[in-house]
Amino acid sequence: MSQKNYSRIIGTGRYLPEKIVTNVDLEKKVDTSDAWIRERTGIEQRHIAADDQTTCDLAEQASLKALEMAEIEASEIDLIIVATTTPDKTFPSTACLLQQRLAIHGCPAFDIQAVCSGFVYALSVADQFIKTGMAKCVLVVGSETLSRITNWSDRNTCVLFGDGAGAVLLQASEEAGILSTHIHADGQYEDLLHVPSGVSKLPKTDSIEERTMAMRGNEVFKMAVNTLSRIAKETLDANGLQKEDIDWLVPHQANLRIINGTAKKLKLSPEQAVVTVHKHANTSSASVPMALDEAIRDGRIQRGHMLLLEAFGGGFTWGSALIRY
Ligand code: UT7
Repeated sequence: MSQKNYSRIIGTGRYLPEKIVTNVDLEKKVDTSDAWIRERTGIEQRHIAADDQTTCDLAEQASLKALEMAEIEASEIDLIIVATTTPDKTFPSTACLLQQRLAIHGCPAFDIQAVCSGFVYALSVADQFIKTGMAKCVLVVGSETLSRITNWSDRNTCVLFGDGAGAVLLQASEEAGILSTHIHADGQYEDLLHVPSGVSKLPKTDSIEERTMAMRGNEVFKMAVNTLSRIAKETLDANGLQKEDIDWLVPHQANLRIINGTAKKLKLSPEQAVVTVHKHANTSSASVPMALDEAIRDGRIQRGHMLLLEAFGGGFTWGSALIRY
């Protein structure tokens, strides 16, 4: 009897909220300039959720598009994993809320919190479920409303982030598939990128800084560049492959300079890196699945291509996935 041990991507989807905030709009709020933001980050605009729009709303839209592409019914899903740092509620998990929206009941559903690496973490967990036969059809979503934890008067952070969601449907298959996933964390860098308070750690004051993202950008930048090229090597080595075997780099979209630097170290042409950061800034766990969806839908990524997904973020966390699409 044949084994169905690979996780194969059968559908992808993305959703960006309607409202767009351009760099020029931000020039009116903080001491910044369109030129500075473009030059240092590559970002041109970001999408911001409406006041009544939640992370689950964005996740639902992205998931429906993935289901449509896969041409399957939601009832075929037997596991839902949502990666998010900005859940609708403390509980239930956003994955449970999403399950209810999709009108399916009974399958396991849970959230993963690994900030910008969340989607790669979720993909890795989903892959283990499929490999062991515990699941046959997994919905993996990265969805964020980072605008809710952004200090809109801090120029160091507010120009960098946006809202959005990306979804991927994985199905057990005899054909590859996810070839390997690699996930890591190092908690000692907590203070370089964090929100100082949360559910259990109460804010010490009423100040907005206690409830919003703080980042020592330059230090994070250096760590990101070094760590991402290290994990690319780890991933290729684990599969006995060379840099030339990669067709597409599908990276976390935080900063165009980081993406270009990683592509260069992998000896890829700039065109082989899927870049979407200019359109929606850093959407944390949503950025990798949104970039993947864009390049699949516009025909760049074709069946049989070799994809390297990778991400780095708060924690620090980092991870990668090598996929034969
Ligand atoms: O997704 C999780 C991982 N996150 C990342 O990977 C983000 C990593 N970090 C970065 O992308 C970059 O470090 C930033 C885009 C955040 C900053 O770029 P940078 O080239 O590292 O700039 P910097 O932090 O060294 O700051 C350079 C200057 C500073 O002014 P002085 O001290 O040189 O006078 C900043 O105050 O730029 C200033 N600055 C700004 N100026 C205009 C910082 N933010 C802004 C701004 N507009 N928005």
